[in-house]
Amino acid sequence: MGDTTDFKSMGLYRNVDRIMADLEAMGKGGDEELNVDDLTSFDQYHYEGTEAVDDAIGYLAPGPGSTILDLGSGLGGPARYLADRTGASVTALEIQQDLNATAADLTRRCGLAELVNHVNGDMLAGAAGVDAYDGIVSMLCVLHIPDRATLFARCADALRPGGRMFIDDYVALGPLTDAETADLADKVYCPYVPDLDTYISDVSAAGFTDIETVDKTADWKAFVADRLAAFRNARPNLEQRYGSATVDGLDDFYSTVANLFTGGHLGGLRLTARIN
Ligand SMILES: C[S@@+](CC[C@H](N)C(=O)[O-])C[C@H]1O[C@@H](n2cnc3c(N)ncnc32)[C@H](O)[C@@H]1O
Repeated sequence: MGDTTDFKSMGLYRNVDRIMADLEAMGKGGDEELNVDDLTSFDQYHYEGTEAVDDAIGYLAPGPGSTILDLGSGLGGPARYLADRTGASVTALEIQQDLNATAADLTRRCGLAELVNHVNGDMLAGAAGVDAYDGIVSMLCVLHIPDRATLFARCADALRPGGRMFIDDYVALGPLTDAETADLADKVYCPYVPDLDTYISDVSAAGFTDIETVDKTADWKAFVADRLAAFRNARPNLEQRYGSATVDGLDDFYSTVANLFTGGHLGGLRLTARIN
C-alpha cells in the first residue's frame, strides 16, 4: 500500500488500536471472542451508527450469496454488522494498513472471517476489481477522495449490471469560508467538497442511473454535536484509558466537525444509485 501518513492529520485515525482499550474496559480484553453488538458503539466511524447501516441494508437488500463492497471500511464496523444481519459476503476495502489489520483481527474474534474479507488497498488503484459486486456501501469515505471521475468509474466497474450503490458523504451547501476549507483539509483530510449538482453529475457521468439523494444535514448536525458532548463528558475516563495525546487529537477532531456543521456551509448527503 502507498503512503497513507497524511490521513493521520485527522485525530480519529490516530492510535486506532484504542478500541482494544475500550474492549478491555468492557471486560473483553485479550483475545476473547466477541459479538458484533459488543463493538458497535466503538467501531462505526460514520454518523448515526448502525441505524445508517440498516438504511443501507434496506436499499441494497443483500442476503446470503450477495456480494457487497464496503468502500473505505475503517475498523470494519459497517461490514461486520451488514454480514451479521444479512448473511451477505462483504469485502471490506481499507487504504490504511493499521485500520485494516485491527479490523481483520476484530472480525476474526467475531467469528465472521468467512463472510467478511478485509483487503488493504486503494479504490482509485482498482483494488475492488471488475464485475465483482451486487452492491457498494460507502460511509463517509468519499470525502477523502477528490478525484471523483476515477472514483465513480471504479465503482461502476466494480458492480455487476443492476448493482446498487449507497453513499453517506459531505456536500457543500454554499461557499465554504477560508477557515472552513482549511479545517476540512487539515483536520478532516477532506480537500474537496462539491455542491449537490456537481456531486450528482459526477455520479451520473460514470454511468449510474436512478440517482436519489436525501439531505442529512440536520440529522448529522445534531449527531456530531451530541457526539462531542458525550466525548467531553467521558473525557476524564478516556484520558486514563487512551492517554491525553490521543484524547486531545479526538477532541480537536470532534469539535472541528461539530463547528463545521454549525457553520451552515457543510451539509450531509445520502446518495443512492444503480448501474445498468
Ligand atoms: C470516516 S472513515 C469511515 C469508516 C467506515 N466506513 C465506517 O463508517 O466506520 C473513512 C475510511 O475510508 C478510508 N479510505 C479513504 N480513501 C480510501 C481509498 N481510496 N480506498 C480505500 N479506503 C479509503 C479511510 O482510510 C477511512 O478509514
